[in-house]
Amino acid sequence: MALTRRKLLVSAAAVTVGAGALIISGRRNSSYLKQISNEFYTFLPIPKLLDARELGNRVPLVAQSGETEFFPNLKTEGYGYSAPYLGPVVRLYRGDTVTMDVTNQLDKVTTVHWHGLFVPSEFDGGPYNSIDPGQVWQPALKIDQPASTAWFHPHPHGDTARQVYMGLAGLLYVEDGSAQDLGLPLRYGLDDIPLIIQDRNFSADGELTYDFSPMAVLHGSRGDTIIVNGVYGPVAEVPHGMVRLRLLNGANARNFRLVFDDWRAMHVIANDNGFLATPVEVKELTVAPGERYEILVDFSDGESVALLTYPDKLGRPSNGITDQMNKIVKDLTETFTPVMRFDPVVDIAVAVQIIPSKLVDLPAPLVPENATRRSFILDSMTAVNTPMTGETSSMEGMDHSAMSGAMKTENTSGLAMGMKMGINGEPFDMTRIDAEVKLGDKEVWELRGTEMAHPFHIHGASFRILNLDGAAPPAHQAGQKDTVLVNEWAQVLVSFDQPGDAAKPFMFHCHILEHEDAGMMAQYATV
Ligand code: C2O
Ligand code: CU
Ligand code: CU
Repeated sequence: MALTRRKLLVSAAAVTVGAGALIISGRRNSSYLKQISNEFYTFLPIPKLLDARELGNRVPLVAQSGETEFFPNLKTEGYGYSAPYLGPVVRLYRGDTVTMDVTNQLDKVTTVHWHGLFVPSEFDGGPYNSIDPGQVWQPALKIDQPASTAWFHPHPHGDTARQVYMGLAGLLYVEDGSAQDLGLPLRYGLDDIPLIIQDRNFSADGELTYDFSPMAVLHGSRGDTIIVNGVYGPVAEVPHGMVRLRLLNGANARNFRLVFDDWRAMHVIANDNGFLATPVEVKELTVAPGERYEILVDFSDGESVALLTYPDKLGRPSNGITDQMNKIVKDLTETFTPVMRFDPVVDIAVAVQIIPSKLVDLPAPLVPENATRRSFILDSMTAVNTPMTGETSSMEGMDHSAMSGAMKTENTSGLAMGMKMGINGEPFDMTRIDAEVKLGDKEVWELRGTEMAHPFHIHGASFRILNLDGAAPPAHQAGQKDTVLVNEWAQVLVSFDQPGDAAKPFMFHCHILEHEDAGMMAQYATV
């Protein structure tokens, strides 16, 4: 059940309904605009910035629980890093070695994975780096990669989805001086703004409710309330100029399909692991769980504008099960949902007004002759221990109505019921190495999804997309990436440059975190 939201901020509440206002199915949806104008009620919080150099390259992070006021006068319990919910933005400099002092003050085992940092597997923070309650973990991270926006989040075996849902996530900014050279906006929180977008469910008394029913495991846990930097319906004040937004989809499962309500352009300058060759103009930007994009947005017209997200269709409707899933989550996903609003103000000085025409050198991906090729099927339906029969059976052959009955069972953990997903038919197994790759090699990996789109992510390596559903990747996904939304199939050229021996292999998995916890994860070691 969603809370009734109250508007606190009256003065900043009007959304400008200009000639270019949102048009749905050919007609302006004025009731929609009225609705969103009442939705935004709080200023966008900017996470605390920890500059590693200022801290002598020792960065303290405490995984802890705490209370947040997501809604007026209601206290919500959650987790955060040195905060009650979410965590700081940590700025790291290329060439430095940074020691993270991670303390686990939770009563559960956790880990901290550096998603998008390229470090040896012994420091990667995957399931092998568990930190017991009360313990400290101190990985020394050698930062040697181009400027990019990465992030950190827990990765304990089987409990990743819930811990992230409770709030454990933060951003990592890798800096190498290129943003200065390119004249990009750089003023943290003013014209260089982090946006961690998530969806959550809250109970009437304000508790974060985590849905881990079998149905939620199947389509991933989704919420009816969108929050940005840990608040609902925020307003960001921005200069009347160019603003750089660093977007992270920190949701467990939902794809955000972002648009501005006046369809203004988003100039994509970076994807996961760094800048693109040139800015790419789009009007709609899909951001899958785990993905990051940086965009430049021009606010020089001084108009307030709302950021919205389109319905998320879960990917291709392929058969009865997908249709049924789409029906069940329809209420959450059929409407345009407001994300936040931007209000240009004159008292923030304008620093940048132009978009650079060229960014970085990005040579076309070159597939080595005789490159090793592997293929992986992200398999939603591997083996399910169903409550109806108690037997392990393939869901492909199941009667859909029987399934949905079972799937609706509330408060029964899909994982506890033995739901398993897998890759190439095998659920995750820490004792099995699924691929041995040669350190320094580039390999072609072919990825296929089943039932719905799956965001594929690999640790300790990054890739270039060669092919997405039979076509070249869209220009805004043509850079170095670590996460790709696989609809039908994808082909990626992966560079394996970080050592990960068999004792602590690297992970690759679906970034729908419920899928990951249910076994849609595998491991590779380098030799
Ligand atoms: Cu962002 Cu293995 O995860
Ligand atoms: Cu990762
Ligand atoms: Cu998946």
